[in-house]
Amino acid sequence: MKFLLPLLAASSIVSAALNPITVKGNAFYDSKTNKRFFIKGVDYLPGGSSDFSDPLLNVDICKRDIAYFKDLGLNAIRVYSVDNAGDHSECMKLLDDAGIYLILDVNTPKNSINRASPAYSYNTAYLQHIFATIDTFKGYDNLLGFFAANEVINDENTTATAPYVKAVIRDMKAYIKSQSKRFIPVGYSAADISTNRQHQAEYFNCGSDEERLDMFGMNDYSWCGKSSYSLSGYDKKVETYSGYTKPMFLSEFGCNEITPRPFTEIEAIYSEQMTSVFSGGLVYEYSEEDNKYGLVEISKNGDITKKTDYNNLKSELAKVKMPSGDAGASSKTDASKCPAFEEGVWEVDPNAPIPSMPKRASAFLTNGAGKPLGTNGPNTSYGDKGDIEDNKAAAEAALTAKTTSRAPRATGSNTASGASAAAASETSSSAAAAIVPAPMGVAVVAPIAILLSSTVFGAFMVL
Ligand SMILES: *[C@@H]1O[C@H](CO)[C@@H](O)[C@H](O)[C@H]1NC(C)=O
Ligand SMILES: *[C@@H]1O[C@H](CO)[C@@H](O)[C@H](O)[C@H]1NC(C)=O
Repeated sequence: MKFLLPLLAASSIVSAALNPITVKGNAFYDSKTNKRFFIKGVDYLPGGSSDFSDPLLNVDICKRDIAYFKDLGLNAIRVYSVDNAGDHSECMKLLDDAGIYLILDVNTPKNSINRASPAYSYNTAYLQHIFATIDTFKGYDNLLGFFAANEVINDENTTATAPYVKAVIRDMKAYIKSQSKRFIPVGYSAADISTNRQHQAEYFNCGSDEERLDMFGMNDYSWCGKSSYSLSGYDKKVETYSGYTKPMFLSEFGCNEITPRPFTEIEAIYSEQMTSVFSGGLVYEYSEEDNKYGLVEISKNGDITKKTDYNNLKSELAKVKMPSGDAGASSKTDASKCPAFEEGVWEVDPNAPIPSMPKRASAFLTNGAGKPLGTNGPNTSYGDKGDIEDNKAAAEAALTAKTTSRAPRATGSNTASGASAAAASETSSSAAAAIVPAPMGVAVVAPIAILLSSTVFGAFMVL
């Protein structure tokens, strides 16, 4: 019975105010009115990024903060982590009533692509977690989209994680296609690394439609104080991405080198100078935390005090007149060219296929992901025992095939068993091989296989 409650609550929301947002060319549109949609939002992570807490579970906190979102004139928030076993229906309804969309990151401190061991962290248990998060939120019309990952590539030496992030994007798109009644955009939120930010944007929009992202978020802190369109370098970004065929927006902005922040970039972001490429953005961040980017202070007893930044942002947003019509948007949909391998800058082989989905995870596409495990689920960073067994078997089979036949292997090919350490080390020409750190079988989280099998096959029986 426990699991039925959230489902009933979600389905009882019949008269949602907001229409789903869809993607056409390089812009967002309201799927019913066909009006172009610009994100006017904040990043919402009260408690900071180090403490895991789901801000959409506590209705009193939602009510308190939504009043400020409305006062600021916002239409979107971004949340970085949720407990996918929780009931979000009341907060989602309050947001919807307030005209606010949600952009949601699907990862948690226990479930994400691990930079140090991307191949291990891309596994069946991980995919069960993020697919279950999709299930928890797919029914809300005011869910704008999902971020598959945030800043996994955070330097020039972590670019070899990109194929794993791209695999996650592909898998989420496939899951939505088979398990959701409507299209939901899936994107990536990128760190602003001057040497390879363009590579990132192009890489995630190259290849087949099944693996290209639906939206690209840039975390961008280049406009500090009363900067300008050209001083900040916004002009160069508009130029660089003018042919990009997916919606782009600033998934974090609000440099705090000069305080209080005047937020004069608001005028630029929503001007016709930028709207042909960018679809608005999200200010980092609502609440004051250790890193000092807040718009409001939240006291221990939950009282809110507005900072000068809050008032500045509010008056800048109030001044802005949203551009009308398509505002320069392009309807082109062609893929970007996959960026070339560049040592020390972009270490991804443009011809290597992205890792295939772990064998057991493909059952989720047809059967659903089963019960969300929430914060009690396994830490999937170190791998999934079942996948490792699969990969071992595939490696042994490959070895047998090699000793019985002397035929040369196709270069860059991947085995069907997916993001396997075994497959990656076999294809030593692929960039991924260099980052597989440990021999197979190390640090296996034993209970995962049991949890998972009871998840996949047990959920239906419980209901
Ligand atoms: C999950 O495992 C990774 C890798 O060992 C570790 O860095 C991380 O802190 C763990 N997360 C939690 C919430 O325990
Ligand atoms: C990348 O380089 C930085 C230093 O520039 C280092 O601290 C970090 O550990 C490196 N990361 C990897 C995955 O090698």
